Amino acid sequence: PPDIPLANVKAHLSQLQSIANANGGNRAHGRPGHKATIDYIKGKLDAAGFQTAIQTFSYGGATGYNLIADWPGGDANNVLMTGAHSDSVTAGPGINDNGSGSAAILETALAVAREGLKPAKHLRFGWWGAEELGLIGSNYYVNNLPSAERSKIKGYLNFDMVGSPNPGYFAYDGDGSSGSGGPAGSAEIENVLRAYFSSINVAVRDTAFDGRSDYGGFIRYGIPAGGMFTGAEGRKTSAEAQLWGGQAGVAYDRCYHSSCDTSSNINDPALDRNADAIAYAVWTLAGGGGEPPG
Ligand code: PHE
Ligand code: CA
Ligand code: ZN
Ligand code: ZN
Ligand code: ZN
Repeated sequence: PPDIPLANVKAHLSQLQSIANANGGNRAHGRPGHKATIDYIKGKLDAAGFQTAIQTFSYGGATGYNLIADWPGGDANNVLMTGAHSDSVTAGPGINDNGSGSAAILETALAVAREGLKPAKHLRFGWWGAEELGLIGSNYYVNNLPSAERSKIKGYLNFDMVGSPNPGYFAYDGDGSSGSGGPAGSAEIENVLRAYFSSINVAVRDTAFDGRSDYGGFIRYGIPAGGMFTGAEGRKTSAEAQLWGGQAGVAYDRCYHSSCDTSSNINDPALDRNADAIAYAVWTLAGGGGEPPG
Protein backbone atom coordinates (compact mmCIF):
# COMPACT_ATOMS: atom_id res chain seq x y z
CA PRO A 1 0.00 0.00 0.00
CA PRO A 2 1.20 3.52 -0.72
CA ASP A 3 2.41 6.02 1.85
CA ILE A 4 -0.22 8.77 1.54
CA PRO A 5 1.55 12.15 1.32
CA LEU A 6 0.57 14.25 4.33
CA ALA A 7 1.15 17.39 2.26
CA ASN A 8 -1.58 16.31 -0.16
CA VAL A 9 -4.07 15.70 2.66
CA LYS A 10 -3.22 19.07 4.19
CA ALA A 11 -3.64 20.80 0.84
CA HIS A 12 -7.23 19.51 0.75
CA LEU A 13 -7.77 20.85 4.29
CA SER A 14 -6.45 24.23 3.19
CA GLN A 15 -8.99 24.23 0.36
CA LEU A 16 -11.81 23.30 2.75
CA GLN A 17 -10.76 26.15 5.04
CA SER A 18 -10.86 28.54 2.08
CA ILE A 19 -14.31 27.25 1.13
CA ALA A 20 -15.56 27.98 4.66
CA ASN A 21 -13.92 31.42 4.66
CA ALA A 22 -15.68 32.28 1.41
CA ASN A 23 -19.07 31.00 2.62
CA GLY A 24 -19.79 32.55 6.01
CA GLY A 25 -17.28 30.52 8.01
CA ASN A 26 -18.79 27.04 7.78
CA ARG A 27 -19.53 24.07 5.52
CA ALA A 28 -22.82 23.10 7.15
CA HIS A 29 -25.87 21.31 5.71
CA GLY A 30 -28.04 23.73 3.76
CA ARG A 31 -25.30 26.36 3.53
CA PRO A 32 -23.31 27.13 0.39
CA GLY A 33 -20.06 25.95 1.97
CA HIS A 34 -21.36 22.39 2.05
CA LYS A 35 -22.21 22.25 -1.65
CA ALA A 36 -18.85 23.90 -2.44
CA THR A 37 -17.16 21.12 -0.43
CA ILE A 38 -18.97 18.44 -2.43
CA ASP A 39 -18.07 20.16 -5.70
CA TYR A 40 -14.39 20.43 -4.70
CA ILE A 41 -14.13 16.73 -3.84
CA LYS A 42 -16.11 15.68 -6.92
CA GLY A 43 -13.80 17.69 -9.19
CA LYS A 44 -10.72 15.87 -7.89
CA LEU A 45 -12.37 12.45 -8.27
CA ASP A 46 -13.72 13.12 -11.76
CA ALA A 47 -10.29 14.22 -12.95
CA ALA A 48 -8.80 10.99 -11.55
CA GLY A 49 -11.22 8.69 -13.38
CA PHE A 50 -13.83 7.88 -10.74
CA GLN A 51 -17.50 7.49 -11.64
CA THR A 52 -19.16 10.02 -9.38
CA ALA A 53 -22.76 10.76 -8.51
CA ILE A 54 -24.33 13.35 -6.24
CA GLN A 55 -27.33 12.01 -4.33
CA THR A 56 -29.71 14.68 -3.08
CA PHE A 57 -32.10 14.49 -0.16
CA SER A 58 -34.21 16.97 1.72
CA TYR A 59 -33.79 17.72 5.40
CA GLY A 60 -34.82 20.62 7.59
CA GLY A 61 -36.15 22.53 4.61
CA ALA A 62 -32.84 22.39 2.73
CA THR A 63 -31.35 20.16 0.05
CA GLY A 64 -28.64 17.83 1.29
CA TYR A 65 -25.92 16.15 -0.75
CA ASN A 66 -24.07 12.83 -0.59
CA LEU A 67 -21.21 12.26 -3.01
CA ILE A 68 -20.66 8.66 -4.14
CA ALA A 69 -17.57 7.68 -6.13
CA ASP A 70 -16.97 4.29 -7.71
CA TRP A 71 -13.61 3.06 -8.95
CA PRO A 72 -14.31 1.09 -12.14
CA GLY A 73 -13.60 -2.63 -11.90
CA GLY A 74 -13.46 -5.27 -9.23
CA ASP A 75 -16.18 -7.73 -8.27
CA ALA A 76 -19.45 -5.82 -8.43
CA ASN A 77 -21.00 -8.33 -6.01
CA ASN A 78 -18.32 -7.68 -3.41
CA VAL A 79 -18.10 -3.98 -2.57
CA LEU A 80 -15.76 -2.36 -0.04
CA MET A 81 -17.05 1.10 0.88
CA THR A 82 -15.11 3.85 2.66
CA GLY A 83 -16.89 6.95 3.96
CA ALA A 84 -16.58 10.23 5.82
CA HIS A 85 -19.01 13.04 6.52
CA SER A 86 -18.47 16.14 4.45
CA ASP A 87 -20.54 18.64 6.44
CA SER A 88 -19.47 20.80 9.37
CA VAL A 89 -21.51 22.30 12.18
CA THR A 90 -22.59 25.92 11.63
CA ALA A 91 -20.24 27.18 14.36
CA GLY A 92 -17.07 26.81 12.34
CA PRO A 93 -15.20 25.40 9.34
CA GLY A 94 -15.04 21.81 10.66
CA ILE A 95 -11.47 21.07 9.66
CA ASN A 96 -10.84 18.24 12.11
CA ASP A 97 -14.60 17.39 12.20
CA ASN A 98 -14.66 16.24 9.49
CA GLY A 99 -12.37 17.84 6.96
CA SER A 100 -9.77 15.39 8.28
CA GLY A 101 -11.72 12.25 7.37
CA SER A 102 -12.99 13.76 4.12
CA ALA A 103 -9.48 14.72 2.99
CA ALA A 104 -7.84 11.48 4.14
CA ILE A 105 -10.30 9.28 2.23
CA LEU A 106 -10.12 11.62 -0.78
CA GLU A 107 -6.35 11.26 -0.91
CA THR A 108 -6.67 7.48 -0.53
CA ALA A 109 -9.08 7.43 -3.47
CA LEU A 110 -6.67 9.55 -5.52
CA ALA A 111 -3.86 7.13 -4.60
CA VAL A 112 -5.99 4.25 -5.92
CA ALA A 113 -6.15 6.12 -9.24
CA ARG A 114 -2.45 7.11 -9.26
CA GLU A 115 -1.43 3.50 -8.69
CA GLY A 116 -3.95 2.13 -11.17
CA LEU A 117 -5.13 -0.31 -8.50
CA LYS A 118 -6.98 -3.34 -9.82
CA PRO A 119 -8.57 -4.64 -6.66
CA ALA A 120 -10.42 -7.94 -6.33
CA LYS A 121 -13.33 -6.15 -4.65
CA HIS A 122 -15.15 -3.19 -6.12
CA LEU A 123 -14.18 0.05 -4.36
CA ARG A 124 -16.71 2.75 -3.51
CA PHE A 125 -16.18 5.95 -1.53
CA GLY A 126 -18.86 8.15 0.06
CA TRP A 127 -18.89 11.70 1.45
CA TRP A 128 -22.03 12.08 3.56
CA GLY A 129 -24.16 15.15 4.06
CA ALA A 130 -25.95 16.28 7.23
CA GLU A 131 -24.13 13.94 9.60
CA GLU A 132 -24.15 16.70 12.19
CA LEU A 133 -27.95 16.76 12.18
CA GLY A 134 -28.21 13.04 13.00
CA LEU A 135 -26.44 10.88 10.39
CA ILE A 136 -29.04 12.03 7.87
CA GLY A 137 -27.14 11.56 4.61
CA SER A 138 -25.59 8.16 5.38
CA ASN A 139 -28.91 6.83 6.65
CA TYR A 140 -30.60 8.14 3.51
CA TYR A 141 -28.04 6.32 1.39
CA VAL A 142 -28.34 2.90 3.04
CA ASN A 143 -32.12 3.11 3.49
CA ASN A 144 -32.65 3.93 -0.19
CA LEU A 145 -30.34 1.30 -1.65
CA PRO A 146 -32.27 -1.60 -3.15
CA SER A 147 -31.75 -4.53 -0.78
CA ALA A 148 -29.88 -6.45 -3.50
CA GLU A 149 -27.41 -3.55 -3.77
CA ARG A 150 -27.12 -3.22 -0.01
CA SER A 151 -26.22 -6.88 0.34
CA LYS A 152 -23.31 -6.42 -2.08
CA ILE A 153 -21.56 -4.11 0.40
CA LYS A 154 -19.31 -6.48 2.32
CA GLY A 155 -17.56 -3.89 4.44
CA TYR A 156 -17.77 -0.21 5.46
CA LEU A 157 -14.85 1.85 6.73
CA ASN A 158 -15.71 5.13 8.51
CA PHE A 159 -13.41 8.05 9.30
CA ASP A 160 -14.80 10.90 11.39
CA MET A 161 -12.16 13.05 13.17
CA VAL A 162 -8.73 11.59 12.42
CA GLY A 163 -6.49 14.57 13.16
CA SER A 164 -7.46 15.66 16.67
CA PRO A 165 -4.87 18.05 18.17
CA ASN A 166 -4.45 15.99 21.38
CA PRO A 167 -4.99 12.66 19.67
CA GLY A 168 -5.90 9.19 20.74
CA TYR A 169 -5.77 6.25 18.36
CA PHE A 170 -9.13 4.55 18.65
CA ALA A 171 -10.41 1.70 16.49
CA TYR A 172 -14.09 0.85 16.39
CA ASP A 173 -14.49 -2.31 18.38
CA GLY A 174 -15.24 -4.88 15.70
CA ASP A 175 -14.67 -7.91 17.88
CA GLY A 176 -16.75 -6.70 20.82
CA SER A 177 -13.89 -7.07 23.28
CA SER A 178 -14.92 -3.82 24.95
CA GLY A 179 -18.62 -4.64 25.07
CA SER A 180 -20.13 -2.99 21.99
CA GLY A 181 -18.98 -4.84 18.90
CA GLY A 182 -19.96 -4.60 15.26
CA PRO A 183 -21.74 -7.07 12.99
CA ALA A 184 -20.03 -10.37 12.19
CA GLY A 185 -17.03 -9.65 10.00
CA SER A 186 -16.18 -6.39 11.73
CA ALA A 187 -13.34 -8.01 13.68
CA GLU A 188 -11.40 -8.50 10.43
CA ILE A 189 -11.57 -4.76 9.75
CA GLU A 190 -10.45 -3.89 13.27
CA ASN A 191 -7.60 -6.38 12.98
CA VAL A 192 -6.34 -4.92 9.69
CA LEU A 193 -6.30 -1.39 11.13
CA ARG A 194 -4.59 -2.64 14.28
CA ALA A 195 -1.98 -4.45 12.18
CA TYR A 196 -1.05 -1.17 10.49
CA PHE A 197 -0.62 0.70 13.76
CA SER A 198 1.31 -2.22 15.19
CA SER A 199 3.71 -1.96 12.23
CA ILE A 200 4.47 1.67 13.13
CA ASN A 201 4.55 0.94 16.88
CA VAL A 202 1.55 3.08 17.77
CA ALA A 203 -0.80 1.65 20.41
CA VAL A 204 -4.51 1.39 19.59
CA ARG A 205 -7.43 1.30 21.99
CA ASP A 206 -11.03 0.29 21.27
CA THR A 207 -13.91 2.72 20.91
CA ALA A 208 -17.44 1.39 20.99
CA PHE A 209 -19.89 1.45 18.10
CA ASP A 210 -21.97 3.93 20.11
CA GLY A 211 -23.95 5.24 17.13
CA ARG A 212 -22.29 8.64 16.94
CA SER A 213 -21.07 8.46 13.35
CA ASP A 214 -22.08 7.32 9.88
CA TYR A 215 -21.38 3.61 10.33
CA GLY A 216 -24.71 3.58 12.20
CA GLY A 217 -26.92 2.83 9.22
CA PHE A 218 -24.50 0.23 7.87
CA ILE A 219 -24.31 -1.79 11.09
CA ARG A 220 -28.11 -1.69 11.42
CA TYR A 221 -28.22 -3.66 8.17
CA GLY A 222 -25.56 -6.07 9.42
CA ILE A 223 -22.76 -4.76 7.20
CA PRO A 224 -19.33 -5.33 8.78
CA ALA A 225 -17.80 -2.00 9.73
CA GLY A 226 -14.78 -0.37 11.27
CA GLY A 227 -12.62 2.70 11.25
CA MET A 228 -10.44 5.01 13.30
CA PHE A 229 -11.17 8.03 15.50
CA THR A 230 -8.74 10.37 17.32
CA GLY A 231 -11.23 11.70 19.86
CA ALA A 232 -13.68 14.56 20.29
CA GLU A 233 -14.83 16.31 23.48
CA GLY A 234 -13.62 13.53 25.80
CA ARG A 235 -10.48 14.11 27.85
CA LYS A 236 -7.28 12.19 27.44
CA THR A 237 -6.51 10.17 30.56
CA SER A 238 -3.09 10.08 32.17
CA ALA A 239 -2.69 6.45 31.05
CA GLU A 240 -3.43 7.54 27.49
CA ALA A 241 -0.95 10.42 27.71
CA GLN A 242 1.69 7.86 28.80
CA LEU A 243 0.79 5.78 25.76
CA TRP A 244 0.51 8.47 23.11
CA GLY A 245 1.99 11.65 24.52
CA GLY A 246 -0.06 14.83 24.55
CA GLN A 247 -1.89 16.44 27.43
CA ALA A 248 -3.61 14.42 30.16
CA GLY A 249 -6.86 15.89 31.47
CA VAL A 250 -7.37 17.90 28.27
CA ALA A 251 -9.93 17.20 25.54
CA TYR A 252 -8.73 15.27 22.51
CA ASP A 253 -10.17 18.19 20.52
CA ARG A 254 -10.71 21.40 22.50
CA CYS A 255 -12.20 22.99 19.37
CA TYR A 256 -14.81 20.27 18.82
CA HIS A 257 -17.88 21.88 17.21
CA SER A 258 -16.37 25.34 17.71
CA SER A 259 -15.22 28.23 15.56
CA CYS A 260 -11.59 27.29 16.33
CA ASP A 261 -11.85 23.98 14.42
CA THR A 262 -9.66 25.54 11.72
CA SER A 263 -6.68 24.32 9.71
CA SER A 264 -4.51 24.88 12.78
CA ASN A 265 -6.65 22.41 14.76
CA ILE A 266 -4.84 19.37 13.38
CA ASN A 267 -2.15 17.09 14.77
CA ASP A 268 0.00 16.29 11.74
CA PRO A 269 1.39 12.91 12.87
CA ALA A 270 -2.13 11.72 13.74
CA LEU A 271 -3.50 12.80 10.37
CA ASP A 272 -0.55 11.24 8.54
CA ARG A 273 -0.76 7.92 10.39
CA ASN A 274 -4.50 7.66 9.89
CA ALA A 275 -4.27 8.48 6.18
CA ASP A 276 -1.64 5.76 5.79
CA ALA A 277 -3.82 3.36 7.83
CA ILE A 278 -6.79 4.04 5.54
CA ALA A 279 -4.71 3.21 2.46
CA TYR A 280 -3.34 0.08 4.16
CA ALA A 281 -6.87 -1.06 5.04
CA VAL A 282 -8.32 -0.35 1.59
CA TRP A 283 -5.47 -2.15 -0.16
CA THR A 284 -5.54 -5.10 2.24
CA LEU A 285 -9.30 -5.56 2.46
CA ALA A 286 -9.86 -5.02 -1.28
CA GLY A 287 -7.44 -7.81 -2.08
CA GLY A 288 -5.48 -8.68 -5.21
CA GLY A 289 -3.89 -6.29 -7.59
CA GLY A 290 -1.71 -3.26 -7.24
CA GLU A 291 -0.61 -3.61 -10.83
CA PRO A 292 -1.10 -0.69 -13.18
CA PRO A 293 -3.54 -1.21 -16.04
CA GLY A 294 -2.34 -2.22 -19.50
N1 PHE B 1 -19.84 12.05 14.90
C1 PHE B 1 -19.40 13.00 15.88
C2 PHE B 1 -19.51 14.39 15.27
O1 PHE B 1 -19.42 14.55 14.08
C3 PHE B 1 -18.01 12.78 16.37
C4 PHE B 1 -17.70 11.40 16.76
C5 PHE B 1 -17.08 10.56 15.87
C6 PHE B 1 -18.03 10.92 18.01
C7 PHE B 1 -16.78 9.25 16.21
C8 PHE B 1 -17.74 9.62 18.38
C9 PHE B 1 -17.10 8.78 17.47
O2 PHE B 1 -19.67 15.35 15.95
CA1 CA C 1 1.92 9.35 5.01
ZN1 ZN D 1 -17.93 14.29 12.84
ZN1 ZN E 1 -19.37 16.86 14.59
ZN1 ZN F 1 -11.63 -4.67 19.81
